Amino acid sequence: MRDDLLTLLTALAAMVLGLWAWRRWHYRSFWLVAGYPLMALTVRGTWRKVALGCGLTKKRQRWWFTLTPGAVASTGLVKVRRRFQRIAVDTKPWMWLPLPTRHGWRVTLHLLEGQIPDDYSQAAERLAHSWRVHAVRVSSPRPGRVVLSATMHDPLVRIDRLPPSDALLKVVVGRLETGKPWEIDFRTVPHWLNAGATQSGKSNLANALIVGLAPQPVALVGFDLKGGVEFTPYAPRLSALATTRAECAALLDDLVALMADRMGLCRTAGARNIWQLPPGVRPMPVVVLIDELAELYLMADKSEKDEIARTSTALLRVAQLGRAFGIYLFCCGQRIGSDLGPGVTALRAQCSGRICHRVNDPETATMTLGDLDPAALVSARAIPAETPGVAIFAGQDGQWYRARSFLVTEQAAEHAARMYSDLTPAWADITSYVHDTDTDTSELDLTELLDA
Ligand SMILES: Nc1ncnc2c1ncn2[C@@H]1O[C@H](COP(=O)(O)OP(=O)(O)OP(=O)(O)O)[C@@H](O)[C@H]1O
Ligand SMILES: [Mg+2]
Repeated sequence: MRDDLLTLLTALAAMVLGLWAWRRWHYRSFWLVAGYPLMALTVRGTWRKVALGCGLTKKRQRWWFTLTPGAVASTGLVKVRRRFQRIAVDTKPWMWLPLPTRHGWRVTLHLLEGQIPDDYSQAAERLAHSWRVHAVRVSSPRPGRVVLSATMHDPLVRIDRLPPSDALLKVVVGRLETGKPWEIDFRTVPHWLNAGATQSGKSNLANALIVGLAPQPVALVGFDLKGGVEFTPYAPRLSALATTRAECAALLDDLVALMADRMGLCRTAGARNIWQLPPGVRPMPVVVLIDELAELYLMADKSEKDEIARTSTALLRVAQLGRAFGIYLFCCGQRIGSDLGPGVTALRAQCSGRICHRVNDPETATMTLGDLDPAALVSARAIPAETPGVAIFAGQDGQWYRARSFLVTEQAAEHAARMYSDLTPAWADITSYVHDTDTDTSELDLTELLDA
């Protein structure tokens, strides 16, 4: 008898150990075979209670077989009678079978009358706690349906690398929480704002862009308002680098002139943008990386007012018209707020790509992510300091995602800059591009074109 018990206990311990080892060494197969079916049963089994607790049910009149209490028989016994009658019952939204995903599961629900997806977004945190999962995200693929996507653990604590993209101006900088690649594609979204508190991972993302763009036939331009400490080591792959406001003003003038040149080239060729030009005459795209954007707008005394106004207008012009002429912006800053002046608000409006790393104040998240789903702002404020590089990212599809960049050290970016230094076009060659062709830009009314 004792031997039997010992054998049973040993077998149980071996099984638990085996499961633990399986979960630890191959979580994906463990999740699919053991974790997911149990979770699916739990989710389906608890849905009525959870929906009721989260306020997602509706009262509906239904025929129901109910007890009629209080019918006391003459003998003194409580007689319970059942009656089939119409009463108001709490109805839960129809739930399909949960399907497994890489980091959890997702399930489609049918909205009840009068419900909107936002009702579910607001209940997302309650749902996550009810099912004891890391997070629940809500999306609505079509009217009348919502999809709840649950992640069991924060998938961004540790991320695996992905192969780099080989498409022009597209860089895989990290992973989304869905497991998909986090791509920054300048041809789809030309201008980006990258905000976050200090040590949140902004420069790491800029490093990732340098590493991704260095082997591509693009010109890189740096504006490093931190006195050049960030971008100077990447100078071998930068066609131009400005580290003071005066240098920035001069470089922005160059960019505006370059844009005007390219406008003339496109106009002569009857093209709307440089991508419609034949490859032989198509000018090289230029990616402008700006670190500490706020420094461009901060005024120490009144004497700087004119210079700031000039740089701010030039930068805004580049943002307004650069897309068609192959000039793209990636602006990083700790605060990108309206307190810096109207120029920065206008620039923000032109930057449709938004990245918000960990922030200290809710205002910065609101300013960066704008009028996205309020849940995005909550998510941005909840990014812990222990996970630098995690950000809320809003890109081409209008959706927002939690994402994390791959760690790209300064040394790696420096190495890439040196390795591909022979691909760096000289700034003089880029700016004199059109003068080498037959296009005459002298007759261009620049002000008229830019103000249009
Ligand atoms: N994706 C990441 N994965 C892991 N660690 C990261 C990641 N991004 C950044 N880090 C770490 O966080 C540190 C700070 O990152 P980074 O220099 O990019 O911050 P920052 O936002 O540019 O800060 P500052 O405003 O002070 O310039 C880095 O030294 C790096 O070790
Ligand atoms: Mg930095």
